[in-house]
Amino acid sequence: TATPPWWRDAVIYQVYPRSFLDTDGDGVGDLRGVARRIPYLSRLGVDTLWLSPFFSSPMADFGYDVRDHTAVDPLFGDLADFDGLVAAAHAHGLRVLIDYVPNHTSGEHPWFRDARTGPLSPRRDWYVWRDPAPGGGPPNNWITLFGESAWTLDAESGQYYLHSFLSSMPDLNWRNPAVREAMFDVARFWLDRGVDGFRVDCAPLIAKDPALRDNPAAGAGTVAHHRPMGGYDSQLHLHDQAHPDLHAMYREFRAVLDAYGDGPAARIALGEIHAYDWQAWSRYFGRELDEIHLPINFGLLRTPWEPGAIRDLVREVLGALPAGAVPTWVTGTHDDPRVASRVGRDQAANAMLLLLTLPGAAILYNGDELGLPDAHITPEDIRDPWGLRTPELSRDPARSPMPWSDGPGAGFTRAGVRPWLPVARPPGGSAAAQEDDPGSLLSLTRAVLALRRAHPALGPGAIEFADAPEGVLAYTRTGPPGGGSLLITLNLTDGPLHIGKTVAGRPWERHLSTAPEAGATAASRGTDAHGPDPDV
Ligand code: GLC
Repeated sequence: TATPPWWRDAVIYQVYPRSFLDTDGDGVGDLRGVARRIPYLSRLGVDTLWLSPFFSSPMADFGYDVRDHTAVDPLFGDLADFDGLVAAAHAHGLRVLIDYVPNHTSGEHPWFRDARTGPLSPRRDWYVWRDPAPGGGPPNNWITLFGESAWTLDAESGQYYLHSFLSSMPDLNWRNPAVREAMFDVARFWLDRGVDGFRVDCAPLIAKDPALRDNPAAGAGTVAHHRPMGGYDSQLHLHDQAHPDLHAMYREFRAVLDAYGDGPAARIALGEIHAYDWQAWSRYFGRELDEIHLPINFGLLRTPWEPGAIRDLVREVLGALPAGAVPTWVTGTHDDPRVASRVGRDQAANAMLLLLTLPGAAILYNGDELGLPDAHITPEDIRDPWGLRTPELSRDPARSPMPWSDGPGAGFTRAGVRPWLPVARPPGGSAAAQEDDPGSLLSLTRAVLALRRAHPALGPGAIEFADAPEGVLAYTRTGPPGGGSLLITLNLTDGPLHIGKTVAGRPWERHLSTAPEAGATAASRGTDAHGPDPDV
């Protein structure tokens, strides 16, 4: 049987470069720091890296506001550092994805500076400009994440421009073919430098209603649906995102990627899709699976940590999956509270086991392999522009630096240098402390990843839920014929769980456990992945 394309069961490790490793002592991580940790990542056993933005930027949104798409911001290094990083990753068999931000640029991008010179600018139509509404005021009722108008008046021309996020991040007009061509050239620039693909930021936002109709008025409790990060609901017919015309745009984008080859040479798109209606989500694969390779579903981040809810989510997502497509799972991002804080420190290991044993691709957020909790951020330490406006929206707690060691600067930065955000300490210790501890989350993550590579049952094959006691999530993964199967038992309670010598009438053998000291039949608070006879 042919090996599946590399990306179908990839384990993608998200690096937030600002917080990974600071090699030049400015308190901010850099590309050389990422390169220096390639051996760590390779030993961990992930196969793909995704780097959040490192492009030239005024950093109003920490790099998602791109000023120059093809330059590395000096804070992070230069293009030679980037090339060195890609070469080091490839030499270790790791693929590299980078962030691609199609929906907006920084207001300091030369395209916008040009557009802003007036209605006669040849680049005026690269962004979305409109006259005020007939009675004055913004052209329609669209709002940003912060509940403010998504339109800002440009006093000089008397017209408004559209921005789904900060007013310093104007939205590009993807309906203009020149914009698409310029953005495809940006993709080619990085593909030519050897990247294996892109994580497409805010993928649903690039196509809006061409008539810019008002959004339906938000009823009580539905206001979140009007905000880009809150996701959208196909029932609501929002007009500021997810217009069906985006499919043609992603088919064009896919053709750019496909021109670089397939199989091991395939370059891929991983799409940030905040849709929680799985039918709507599944459309991003494309009718012929000719759009986004891996649309991310964020379901695990929004589902209560409870067996029934998780099982229903997995079933719904798989049920909505087009034939031939694979799902992508994620438990942590730079935009959400840390998984260890969300599910509780005792459940972090179960969350890791779940993430890495579901069928399809998985995304692991840096630090989650250490059980890193949310950092405590005092009001003076808030850096996130969302948090500066709305403290509850602050994403800083999940963005704190990697705790590499217990030494000064946590091994993240030099002694005496203040890291850009306070460092949080994982209960299991720093990476160095967890390194040689067989009971650490780091060791467990390595063991699960090794099992995932070795055992055909953990490929993109079948999953079947099994009956389990209250509070326990149990499922069987089965690989291709002859590949055997694995039973995964996740104890989501905080009490002990007794597993008998047989499960469903079959004997079993332990492959690994979150409680390595537990005997095969001993009481265990842990969780197991174990495999019945290989031919079952
Ligand atoms: C995405 C990013 C987030 C950013 C936003 C605007 O959701 O993950 O960090 O702020 O897009 O680009």
